[in-house]
Amino acid sequence: MAEDRAAALAEIAAQVRPCTKCELHRGRTHAVPGAGNPNAEIMFIGEGPGYHEDQQGLPFVGRSGDYLVQLLKLIGLTRDQVFIGNVVKCRPSGNRDPLPDEILACKPYLDAQIAAIDPLVIVTLGRFSMARYFPGAKITQIHGKPKYDNGRAYYPMFHPAAALRAQALMPQMEADMRRVLEVLAQVKKMRAAGASPSEPPKDEPPPTQLSLF
Ligand code: URA
Ligand code: SF4
Repeated sequence: MAEDRAAALAEIAAQVRPCTKCELHRGRTHAVPGAGNPNAEIMFIGEGPGYHEDQQGLPFVGRSGDYLVQLLKLIGLTRDQVFIGNVVKCRPSGNRDPLPDEILACKPYLDAQIAAIDPLVIVTLGRFSMARYFPGAKITQIHGKPKYDNGRAYYPMFHPAAALRAQALMPQMEADMRRVLEVLAQVKKMRAAGASPSEPPKDEPPPTQLSLF
């Protein structure tokens, strides 16, 4: 139910805003619970708030966010049609990497958001959200390659900030984004088939070749 999802997300956000479960709460201006459509089919998971996100309490509203919005536009989506969250909800000072204990402390919130939204596709942006689903993997090797599991796709992409830093990544970033709708369609096909296999059904094998002679 749409209302239930919105209510669940609002409840999670209400727990995140005053949270003091890890050290990151000390440096924050605003916690950034996440934002978007409670009924989103596609959920994006970034790393953690940066300066602008911390100022506004909203995810991906700085330069990385502008780029993410441009990428979404390539596939005809706006940020309000998807849900955008982060691995940690409070800004690591100086944009340092979040620490393992901080990621662990914040994990129940992200887990609860995913459970509430039940997205068909989870797009991980960068290493830290990728590590939830592809432990030990290298982003340069697996970006743009979906993993289908239990009626959902996990789809790793580079972090938008990485592409802004190393602009040679931009064409790959764009190509990966353009594939997201194809991955979504594949999940829908799998769910419609009533199966939740780990891999998409292979296309029908060609009928056994009849002898032409
Ligand atoms: N980078 C992230 O990982 N998350 C944000 O919300 C903003 C920038
Ligand atoms: Fe709480 Fe997460 Fe913020 Fe740490 S980062 S204080 S666990 S909301």
